[in-house]
Amino acid sequence: MIQEKDRIIRELNDEITKIKDIQELQNVKAKYTGKKGILTALMKNISSVEPENRKNYGMEVNSLKEEIENIINEKTEEIKKSEKEKQEMKNWVDVTADGAKKISGREHLIMKVMRESFEIFTNLGFTVVEGNEIEEPWFNFDALNTPKWHPARDMQDTFYIDEEHLLRTHTSAVQIRTMMKHQPPIAVVSSGRTYRKDEIDATHSAMFHQFEGLYIDKNVNVGHLKKFLEIYAQKMFGSNLKVLLRPSFFPFVEPGFEVDVSCISCGGKGCSVCKNTGWIEVLGAGLVHPNVLRNVGFDPEKWQGLAFGIGIERIAMLKYGISNMRELFKNDIRFIE
Ligand code: PHE
Repeated sequence: MIQEKDRIIRELNDEITKIKDIQELQNVKAKYTGKKGILTALMKNISSVEPENRKNYGMEVNSLKEEIENIINEKTEEIKKSEKEKQEMKNWVDVTADGAKKISGREHLIMKVMRESFEIFTNLGFTVVEGNEIEEPWFNFDALNTPKWHPARDMQDTFYIDEEHLLRTHTSAVQIRTMMKHQPPIAVVSSGRTYRKDEIDATHSAMFHQFEGLYIDKNVNVGHLKKFLEIYAQKMFGSNLKVLLRPSFFPFVEPGFEVDVSCISCGGKGCSVCKNTGWIEVLGAGLVHPNVLRNVGFDPEKWQGLAFGIGIERIAMLKYGISNMRELFKNDIRFIE
């Protein structure tokens, strides 16, 4: 019996060292301690043992059973521990690893030029006001000295929503809305989308952005206008930039001007960007027409005003050397970056 016991333990140890999971261990356990197992067989054998040795035999089988159970329990703990470790390895997180790279947004060039324009004029004491993208014809045209029969109304091909509503063709309607709400002196700027039925090409879009300025006070003259625009252009493009006022026509100003800045590309010598003129047109401006002042109830003998409308896309294209306006609206991430 003793020899047999040693052999059984040796075999069990041999078998157990190869075991890797609980299932295999269950099988081995059944083989030794199960109903049809080795221990049961040994117990059954007791009948063939001499009666006086049976007690000892029984004790030996029991101690063998204990030993076997200890070995199996130990192995069970070992397997459980290693499985837990495996699981932990799987869930392991390297808290020192670099974080995932976040893509952060960029300010679009249109917004950047708009914001910088606001900054320049608010530093000069102007207040920012908001206008309506959907306007009434009276604010967009009539009050701006552009009655129905006026040929200038044809120059701005317009998106009408119905008889009473249109997508504003310029930000100048903000002038009227502001003057109807506030008494002079007035110094406001406003910016946003404007719409015209323009064919889309490298320099035109059916939707674009304008930046409007209005200043109403006593004794306002063209000198004030030129100085404001010079400050704007030099802050936007550089301190040695020159501003040129060319007489032009807008129904709501008198005199009216188209305003050029000296070519950013060649410094005024003449190049392909400025078509060899040395100048680039960036905005429309003028002194507020007396009829416009009358339309909002201001006495033109008492108050004068200046107004200007800047093309934001134009400024952005010049400032950042963009030759095709469509780049600004394509939302190509590579361009925006
Ligand atoms: N509203 C004019 C345009 O869209 C620009 C302008 C604004 C001209 C203010 C004079 C004064 O072309």
